Amino acid sequence: MKALVLSGGAGTRLRPITHTSAKQLVPVANKPVLFYGLEAIAEAGITEVGIIVGDTAAEIREAVGDGSELGIKVTYIPQDAPLGLAHAVLIAKDFLGDDDFVMYLGDNFIVGGISGLVDQFRAEKPDAQILLTQVSDPRSFGVAELDAAGQVVGLEEKPKEPKSDLALVGVYLFTPLIHEAVRSIEPSWRGELEITHAIQWLIEQKRDVRSTTIHGYWKDTGNVTDMLEVNRTVLETLEPSLDGEIDETSEIIGRVQIHKTAKVTGSRIVGPAIIGAGSVVTDAYVGPFTSISDDCRIEDAEVEYSILLKESSIVGVRRIEASLIGRNAEITPAPRVPAAHRLVIGDYSKVQISS
Ligand code: G1P
Repeated sequence: MKALVLSGGAGTRLRPITHTSAKQLVPVANKPVLFYGLEAIAEAGITEVGIIVGDTAAEIREAVGDGSELGIKVTYIPQDAPLGLAHAVLIAKDFLGDDDFVMYLGDNFIVGGISGLVDQFRAEKPDAQILLTQVSDPRSFGVAELDAAGQVVGLEEKPKEPKSDLALVGVYLFTPLIHEAVRSIEPSWRGELEITHAIQWLIEQKRDVRSTTIHGYWKDTGNVTDMLEVNRTVLETLEPSLDGEIDETSEIIGRVQIHKTAKVTGSRIVGPAIIGAGSVVTDAYVGPFTSISDDCRIEDAEVEYSILLKESSIVGVRRIEASLIGRNAEITPAPRVPAAHRLVIGDYSKVQISS
C-alpha cells in the first residue's frame, strides 16, 4: 500500500499567513500540520509516499526532504496547476501503479491517526473507503448522503443546500479502481476534477464504497478559531520538558516545553505551552494554549491562547489573546497620546482592536 499526499493549493482561507507560506506548513504546536499527516502514514506502516506539490514546491521539499527523518520515502509529483484532487490522482498514476493507496490532504488534521482505518481497509478490502465527520457548515466541504442503513448513496461537492451535515474528511482509501473513475469524470463548475465526483462515479457503478464517521477532525476552513482549537488539542498532549535556560525568578507551571536553545528570564509561563528554538521570553507572561515558534521575542508583554510563527515579536504590549501572528511580524505599543492605533497590515489580514 502507498500514500498520496496533496500539498499544493493556494491556501486562500488562511491569508495573509499563506501569502508567504504553504498552508500545509502552518505550525500546530510548533510542527507543520503536514508532518502530523506524514507521521500518521508512517505509523500505519506505509513507507512509499508520493507528495503532490504546486507553487509552494520548494518550501515543501525543504521542510520534508526525502522523508527519511519521518521514516518514509518521498517521491515528489509536480502539479502544474491546481486542477483538482482527482487530477492529482491522474498525474500520480505512474507512482501509484496497481497498488491500493491512502490519499491524504496535507491541510487536514485527524486526531488519533489513521492506523485503525488502514488496518480495517486491508482486512475488508472494499473498493473505496471514505471518512465523514459532522460539521456545522457543510457548504465548504464535500457532503455525503447516507440511507437508513448508513450506506453512502450520494456525494456532492460544496453544495449550496447540503443533504446532511456529514462532510468528507480529506483522507480516502482507494483500490486501483479509482483510476478508471478519475478518467471518467468531467471538471466541476470550479474547473476542477473533483475526487468527490470520482467516488460518486464508483457509487453509480454499484461499487462497494464504505464510510466511517470520525470525531476529532480539523481543516483550515478559514477562521483562525479552528486553528487555535487544534493547537489547543495538541498542546494538551505535550510532553513537558524544560530544557532551555530558565532563570530562578521565572515560574513555569503545568505542561510546558521549552527548547534547549530558548531563554526565559523573569517570566511566568502557564502551560500547556511550547517555546521554540532560539526564542527569548523576558519579563513576560505566556498563558495556556500558546505556541511560540523559533526565534521569537516576547518582552515586557502578555500573550495567551495564540500561535506565533517564526521570528515574530511582541514587545511592551498586554494582553494578546486568540491571535495568529505571522512570520517576522512585530507587535509594539502605539504612542500613548493620542489614543490611536498605527497598523501596517498585509492584504487579507483580520484585526480586532478593543475600543
Ligand atoms: C476538498 C474536497 C472536499 C473535502 C475537503 C476536505 O475540498 O474537495 O470534498 O470535504 O477537501 O478537506 P477543498 O480543500 O478543495 O476545498
